[in-house]
Amino acid sequence: MQTERKLELDHLGDWRRTHHCGELRPSHAGQKVFLAGWVDRRRDLGHLIFLDLRDHTGIVQVVLNPELSPSAHDKGEQVRSEYVVGVEGEVVVRAEQTVNPQIPTGQVEVQARQLLLLNDAKTPPFPLDDGARPSEESRLRYRYVDLRRARMQRNLRLRHQAALLVRRHMSEHGFIEIETPFLTRSTPEGARDYLVPSRLRPGHFYALPQSPQLFKQLLMIGGFDRYFQIVRCFRDEDLRADRQPEFTQIDVEMAFPQREELFEIIERLMQKLFALVDARMELPVPRLTYAEAMERYGSDKPHTGFGLEWARLTLPAAACQALKADPSAKALRVPAAEPLSRSQLDQLQDWAQASGAGWFSYIKNEPNGFRSPLTKPLGEAPVASLARAAGLQPGEILLLIGSKGETASSLKARQLDEASGALRLRLIERLRLAPRAPWNFVWVVDFPMFEYDEKENRFVAMHHPFTSPREEDLPKLESDPAAVKARAYDLVLNGQEIGGGSIRLHRRDIQARVFRVLGLSEEMARERFGFLMDALESGAPPHGGIALGWDRIVALMAGESNIREVIAFPKTASAVDLMCDAPATVDPEQLDELGIQIKQD
Ligand code: AMO
Repeated sequence: MQTERKLELDHLGDWRRTHHCGELRPSHAGQKVFLAGWVDRRRDLGHLIFLDLRDHTGIVQVVLNPELSPSAHDKGEQVRSEYVVGVEGEVVVRAEQTVNPQIPTGQVEVQARQLLLLNDAKTPPFPLDDGARPSEESRLRYRYVDLRRARMQRNLRLRHQAALLVRRHMSEHGFIEIETPFLTRSTPEGARDYLVPSRLRPGHFYALPQSPQLFKQLLMIGGFDRYFQIVRCFRDEDLRADRQPEFTQIDVEMAFPQREELFEIIERLMQKLFALVDARMELPVPRLTYAEAMERYGSDKPHTGFGLEWARLTLPAAACQALKADPSAKALRVPAAEPLSRSQLDQLQDWAQASGAGWFSYIKNEPNGFRSPLTKPLGEAPVASLARAAGLQPGEILLLIGSKGETASSLKARQLDEASGALRLRLIERLRLAPRAPWNFVWVVDFPMFEYDEKENRFVAMHHPFTSPREEDLPKLESDPAAVKARAYDLVLNGQEIGGGSIRLHRRDIQARVFRVLGLSEEMARERFGFLMDALESGAPPHGGIALGWDRIVALMAGESNIREVIAFPKTASAVDLMCDAPATVDPEQLDELGIQIKQD
């Protein structure tokens, strides 16, 4: 509610800013300037009033001296934090004892001749300095105030610089930016769609794109050769620190693709982007196959910066019997420099079991021999041979996990891999390990084409259904789908998936076979993707591409752990916009027009 205004406000009139607050230095001494911005702080020393004037470039001190300008001083008495003011005055060098070394403009101040009161402001909901820790809720509710903070200014300006660089880089490599529709049909990327009802065709809905996947493929068929787009995507899925319901991709596609050529273009882009934050990146980026990543790190998005790799161990038959386990176990050597206490080992055991490992144990290589809870059931010699097989060095501890039940299965192997990945991350967290290098990029390649969905009782595409299998695996497509590898790849940075893509299916016959393996009948495929099937018969060139998770990349560049910090108006973890209060109910007439009735239960 607007309280009655006692303050007499000024008009901006013809005043133009001559400088920004943060740029003034002793070299500007003697210059007449006009600055405008927000009052960060006001100090009233009785005779003199000091204003810290802030704009997006920084803060400068303004002095209101009644002897120089009684009217500016009078107005200054009414000013409060976050009032919007204009200041006309002269830059002067401060006396040595009043220099403020904390701020870049600390050697100067502006002696005001005129002060324009351009607007007042309610008491801010939280302090705006970087040290303040306002609640997430209040930051999002009053985002327009939060955005004034140096952190948000820094992050969004970095995002802008980075986007300029992307456009220049892609353009230099012959990619052109083309916009694709938001009101479209479902593009399956594994999440739920956001639907938009149609007024003109009641009962019909558009879907907001989960990605521009099909359009970029159609652009290749349309002869555009190399496309990119900085594009918003919409996915109704469970949210986390690295997921928003609407997020941005750098979407890329090329015709006649060679994977290595695409990797090179993307790696060089990454190198330039990270140079913006003074990070040096060695090229080429290392590659791991999916199978290696799962084996060594227990994850398809491994943080490769810590070492700590799992190795496969085969248990001797006697050990399988004693542990009631299958022979395939995994082992990880914890360096001597990271001793684990008994209680930490107990905790790891609890975590291992909670993550799905059937059993957990360890072997310590101590000066007086190997010590392990396994010595009792197995005996000393088998324990020593396990330790030797794993290459356990003096002072190291070997962590061991495995599955229960004496027969091995691919499901058990997968569960064990996942448990090993979860345990490794816990270990890194628990030991507070620092990565060996700040930026650990890796390409993960050769993903399986399909994964079996136990709930749906059918195969689903691991990347998306438009991904090409490896040519050599085509004969196995129907007979052994689980063994088919895809021409898909992910780019991973410090354990986060920052991009994913594939070489596509450009032949209608193979696309139809893949749809069949996915349980999509000819009619369903025609109903949902008829336009694609037709297009594939209209001279579709081989093509492939990638999409980079832009919010994740900028967050990593900015050193932020949540992508909300690099998005101007993000949503909460429950997909709510607290500031606009969206989603919201709508007028019954609006629903009526759309032919929609809300179910009451
Ligand atoms: P994918 O689904 O792997 O691929 O998405 C590409 C990248 O987008 C980022 N990402 C997200 N970022 C924030 N919030 C989300 N909810 C979210 N979901 C995904 C990730 C991810 O690696 N069409 C394919 C690309 C292709 O095949 O070319 C696609 O969308 O960093």
